[in-house]
Amino acid sequence: MTDRFEGRPWRKSAPIETRRLVLRDFTFDDVARTALYAGDPAVARMMAPVPLPFTEAHASAFIGDVLASNALGGGLGLAVARKREPDALIGTVTFAGEGAAVEIGWWFGRAFWGKGFATEAVMALIDVAFQAPHLETIVAGAFADNPASLRVHEKLGFRIIGHSRRTSAARGCAVDHIDMALTRADWQARQSSASEGTSGA
Ligand SMILES: CC(C)(COP(=O)(O)OP(=O)(O)OC[C@H]1O[C@@H](n2cnc3c(N)ncnc32)[C@H](O)[C@@H]1OP(=O)(O)O)[C@@H](O)C(=O)NCCC(=O)NCCS
Repeated sequence: MTDRFEGRPWRKSAPIETRRLVLRDFTFDDVARTALYAGDPAVARMMAPVPLPFTEAHASAFIGDVLASNALGGGLGLAVARKREPDALIGTVTFAGEGAAVEIGWWFGRAFWGKGFATEAVMALIDVAFQAPHLETIVAGAFADNPASLRVHEKLGFRIIGHSRRTSAARGCAVDHIDMALTRADWQARQSSASEGTSGA
């Protein structure tokens, strides 16, 4: 019998531990923090699908959708928390898609910005995604007026592949968007340079 999760090794990957963080499955106990942090206009305005206001009902629907998608294996959405307080969500990382390309996204509560948490969490998710042998490209991108997220992409090795306009639900209009991608080759190059940096040091 064929395993319907064949080629989707991320299916059983949670929880994922990094140096400071744990990327774990959502629970409905995350609703209040999800609504609080994603409903901050500084976050919602940078996330195309997030409306304002973003209520606990929106957060609950979002978490339900992520849990359903995780169960089907088509993608992976995880709550991010600090290891020392694993029940307290501080952000989210998600990817979804079929075939040779998946799309990845992330947000963090404003109180947790500027500490390298996004870079640390997204790097771990990328490493899990590329365990799928058929995956060649991870696509992402950010609104042009989001230098923090563009910097996260850059630190992770993403390259600009184009420019588009995407509708921001929170702003109620289309916004300039920078489309970015990370290829398996660029990811492997980063892995190699990281291991060269640690070996022999
Ligand atoms: C984008 C976001 C996830 C970054 O989270 P974070 O944990 O602060 O990210 P990191 O600390 O790993 O890295 C942020 C980088 O951006 C830089 N940065 C932050 N604000 C910046 C600004 N206004 N201009 C230029 N660079 C900026 C930081 O200095 C850091 O780079 P460095 O490590 O070279 O110093 C967070 O700001 C967020 O959730 N924003 C709202 C939602 C969002 O934008 N999601 C992504 C949609 S594409």
